[in-house]
Amino acid sequence: MATTSVQQKPLKCVDEWDDFIANRYREGKKHSEFRIYDEKSDPSVAEFYRLNHANQTLQFVLEKESQYNPLQKGKKSIWEAANYLNTLIDDSDPDTDLSQIEHLMQTSEAIRKDGHPRWFILTGFLHDLGKVLCLYGEPQWAVVGDTFPVGCAYSDQIVFPEYFVNNPDSKNAEYQTLYGIYEPNCGLDNVHLSWGHDEYIYRVVKDYLPEPAHYMLRYHSFYSAHRHGAYRHLMSPHDEEMFQWVHTFNPYDLYSKGSAKPDMKELMPYYADLIAEFFPDEITW
Ligand SMILES: [Fe+2]
Ligand SMILES: [Fe+2]
Repeated sequence: MATTSVQQKPLKCVDEWDDFIANRYREGKKHSEFRIYDEKSDPSVAEFYRLNHANQTLQFVLEKESQYNPLQKGKKSIWEAANYLNTLIDDSDPDTDLSQIEHLMQTSEAIRKDGHPRWFILTGFLHDLGKVLCLYGEPQWAVVGDTFPVGCAYSDQIVFPEYFVNNPDSKNAEYQTLYGIYEPNCGLDNVHLSWGHDEYIYRVVKDYLPEPAHYMLRYHSFYSAHRHGAYRHLMSPHDEEMFQWVHTFNPYDLYSKGSAKPDMKELMPYYADLIAEFFPDEITW
């Protein structure tokens, strides 16, 4: 059915979602303004969230976890993955939009300018590499979008919460209590979040980076928690402590896009060294 494929790809490119988020949380915007902004947002973004909220069920997430978490997509260097991600075709104007690698480098360069440690700079460079899921054939709604726990009640702090009515889990009473299938303060490691690029890149690089990087990568799209304070009832004291790193990371992801285009050629040797310091030539994806 022709309409299905259109609906499965409502965004011109996945960056459209990142731009939506950056505008939603534009510096200085008040909490009360978010919803008005969401209502007026681009119809393609609304359609994207309609699909995301309808299809991210607990069962879907469990399937994707068992498909991708064992890392069976072969070996690739970080550079190969970054170049591969750069082939993500973007229907918007190539002159004005940043390539995927440029967004990664803008993020990491902003982190570097603020004098943060090398592992933190590298985390900035890696944070969106999980978007290669798009190139594996996953629909946009299973790659980007705010992430949220599945198997328990949806927070009204999630963007477009009204779209959850179309999710089959919303009719499952067991999944709609506050804790759902989880125990109070069980820790986020025991919670299944909607599937996307955060969890995938965390799985791929976790053995090479310190724990704060794990949190930054794994929860950078979990806006209802890190921006709105939702789901504290599932978080452990350790999660609460580690979320300071998610908070520290988030502005670099959101607000570095306005800065100058990174000079790839000039920066390449620095990043080659940085990657070689933490990673072997190839890692398993
Ligand atoms: Fe991201
Ligand atoms: Fe990003």
